[in-house]
Amino acid sequence: MKILITGGAGFIGSNFARHIIRNRPDWGVTVLDKLTYAGNPANVADLKSYDRFQFVQGDICDPHLMAETIPGHDCIVNFAAETHVDRSLARADDFLRTALIGTNVMLEIVRKHKDIRYIQISTDEVYGSFDIGSATEESPIVPRNPYSASKAGGDLLALSYFKSFGLDVIVTRSSNNFGPFQYPEKVMPLFITNLLEGKPIPLYGDGMNIRDWLFVEDNCTAILLALEEGNAGEVYNIGAGNEIPNIKMTKALLASLGKPESMIRLVEDRPGHDRRYSLESTKIRSMGWEPASTFQDQLASTVSWYQSHEDWWKPLKSGEFKEYYKKMYEERKGYYE
Ligand code: NAD
Ligand code: DAU
Repeated sequence: MKILITGGAGFIGSNFARHIIRNRPDWGVTVLDKLTYAGNPANVADLKSYDRFQFVQGDICDPHLMAETIPGHDCIVNFAAETHVDRSLARADDFLRTALIGTNVMLEIVRKHKDIRYIQISTDEVYGSFDIGSATEESPIVPRNPYSASKAGGDLLALSYFKSFGLDVIVTRSSNNFGPFQYPEKVMPLFITNLLEGKPIPLYGDGMNIRDWLFVEDNCTAILLALEEGNAGEVYNIGAGNEIPNIKMTKALLASLGKPESMIRLVEDRPGHDRRYSLESTKIRSMGWEPASTFQDQLASTVSWYQSHEDWWKPLKSGEFKEYYKKMYEERKGYYE
């Protein structure tokens, strides 16, 4: 078995590559990644010592590179995307390019190699915001920000290649991941690393938006299950059932680092901020999947990972990130008030 993991130098992709190397000792693993600001060779540095691992730097939108790289693999798991909602609100071009053109480039090649299984990694955000109830795999697709609209486009395009051409396509839609190697623009690593640096933590709006926190390793086991046992043309929701208002998650981080609530800054809300994401995950759970441990334990191990990996995250918070932080937070209403 040979697997191609696109976007595999990012947060979830690198955890997934490591998960495969550890749990499928006879599989060959290729990680292909453009290394955008969010892609980081350090995320897969430990895998380079394995003969059955190879890294290719490249763009999934490049048809020549992808036509050279894809043949010889039995499956592709596509994590490649621009992934930060706030950045998509500023400018969405790259989001659309990678999600739509990149996905299309790979599907067109798989069309010529129909024995390849193609997994598109998507998100609960495509179902939109739920004040009550939860999204099943059949719920309408109603994305509400440019990031989730780009993801919905890629995910529907992939499914259209199953319907139109019989390609072996599967889509997974998961809730908010957390864990090691997450770029510190996302709320959990941003708050943990800010607190470790003694900086305030910018909570959007009233802090009552709800996300369902899924430990990245649990997402990896679910994706591998869908890859090995899922059916072509199917969508699999992956939610942990840890629906928590942001303020509660924030207080849990403060408690775990022994920091006071005065570190919180209630800042101006994200435009169009989705109130609550919620997934019904019966389908993947009926295949035997469930989170491996409690949210409390997973949060504690995540905090401790960032505490012991300053060498990983400190360089990421310098340079361009400082400009981003200034614009995104320091100039935001509420940060200095
Ligand atoms: P990430 O931003 O950490 O990683 C994305 C990776 O894709 C980066 O390494 C980047 O360099 C690479 N990439 C971007 N454009 C590329 C291109 N054109 N060609 C090749 N590589 C490219 O993101 P993540 O959080 O690991 O998310 C991975 C996937 O999972 C994404 O598709 C995202 O939409 C989806 N997802 C994420 C979450 C979450 O909570 N993080 C939840 C549900 C779904
Ligand atoms: O739901 C799955 C999605 O989760 C993925 O598809 C996205 O790729 C991933 O980025 C994530 O999107 P969110 O917008 O939910 O994640 P983020 O970490 O940006 O924000 C989580 C919540 O925290 C959200 O309600 C906004 C809030 N937040 C975020 C940041 C960055 C803050 O209050 N302050 C912040 O500084």
